[in-house]
Amino acid sequence: MPVTTSPIDPTALPRPPRLPAGFVWGASTAAYQIEGAADADGKGPSIWDTFVRRPGAVRDGHTGDVACDHYHRFDEDVALMRRLGLDAYRFSVSWSRVLPTGGGKVEPRGLDFYDRLVDALLGAGIEPTPTLFHWDLPQALEDEGGWLNRETAHRFAEYAAVTAERLGDRVKRWITLNEPFVHMSFGYAFGVHAPGRALMLDALPVAHHQLLGHGLATAALRAAVPDGQVLIANNCSPVRLRPDARSEEDAAAASAYDALHNRLFNDPVLLGSYPDLSAYGMSDPSWGGVVRDGDLDAIAAPLDGLGLNYYNPTWVTAPADPAAGLPFDLTEPQETYRRTSFDWPVVPDGLTELLTGLKDRYGDALPPVWITESGCSQPAGPDDRERIDYLAGHIAAVADAVTRGVDVRGYFTWSLLDNFEWAEGFHQRFGLVEVDFATRRRTPRASFAWYRDLIASQRP
Ligand code: NOJ
Repeated sequence: MPVTTSPIDPTALPRPPRLPAGFVWGASTAAYQIEGAADADGKGPSIWDTFVRRPGAVRDGHTGDVACDHYHRFDEDVALMRRLGLDAYRFSVSWSRVLPTGGGKVEPRGLDFYDRLVDALLGAGIEPTPTLFHWDLPQALEDEGGWLNRETAHRFAEYAAVTAERLGDRVKRWITLNEPFVHMSFGYAFGVHAPGRALMLDALPVAHHQLLGHGLATAALRAAVPDGQVLIANNCSPVRLRPDARSEEDAAAASAYDALHNRLFNDPVLLGSYPDLSAYGMSDPSWGGVVRDGDLDAIAAPLDGLGLNYYNPTWVTAPADPAAGLPFDLTEPQETYRRTSFDWPVVPDGLTELLTGLKDRYGDALPPVWITESGCSQPAGPDDRERIDYLAGHIAAVADAVTRGVDVRGYFTWSLLDNFEWAEGFHQRFGLVEVDFATRRRTPRASFAWYRDLIASQRP
């Protein structure tokens, strides 16, 4: 059930604990979700430009053709960020603006746009933190097999090099991939996101090829920006069992889910190895020769940080029908949690659990952690008290993990603006700033003022 907003009592707003000096406060967006200008200035089509035209793919047939029109209004958006007092802004670069067919000929006007954005951010004292791949693969590469094709990893490294050579004199913190798990599962396994393929476990090579792309792009970024930092943004979810589901089979199901969702993407990057998915009855990505000699060395190149996108834990049980396919069933918690408009449970302590769990598993191999996304969808309107509570709870959860010894360097809320929420179109609103999608008018919400005041109060 969606939550309802309550009138804001300014005297009773939550105040999370102080984070260490130098902690970076940010906000995140992604190119297809905000930019619009879908074919401006030589941009080539991406898989999302194609997918949104598939009947029934996106709620009410919404598209990102115009979205927030950020491409033409970025100055206004940077002014909003300056009002917030952001230290850093995480956005994504549209690959097919820079390389309309994914490789080969560069479109200078595409790079010019990011050049102007970077300069505007720096002029406002905000550190640009681009993500190179936030799901909008050039359609021309999808026509060659997309991330099922190993060549895409090499094209990604070329694109990273071209972009970093242009921006790397000013951009020092880079994120390679956004949520490779979600792109693999929603895009290639279940088909609910672009490119809309429903391959189930045969989608696993998409994990490896994205991670190989990450490794090759990391080398390209290091070469182009020797004083830069490189991160990956993984979506991680602590796995929980219901109190009524604690058998050995349930525990095995939890371990299987953790292997697929979390360890498949963290282990190769941090440890240089894959979890053995075949031990859980899931075929392993090394099958069929997908993982070649040297790949894991490239993937495990040292990183300056691990980005984490956290929304909620996942509850699992043993599969009702083990022969049917996956070695787990997804289920709902027995506890009653507040729910977002997406009906996602609000579980701040899941973030502490995630952070301390990563520290336990990876120890010294865990680089500094950055929360690259954290936020919630709430009903439209200015009085988003529920969002304030959500953010305060999750920031307090980060502070808790820091006191338990986890090195967390920054927090980027999702999102600066209401935007195109993939298969949900414009129906889910995640913004500190409300966007009227008829006029593109921006209206800061109560959470905007709260986050601004929080950032100011955390300054030394
Ligand atoms: C994670 C994704 O990176 C982002 O694009 C999306 O909007 C949020 N989750 C909310 O679903």
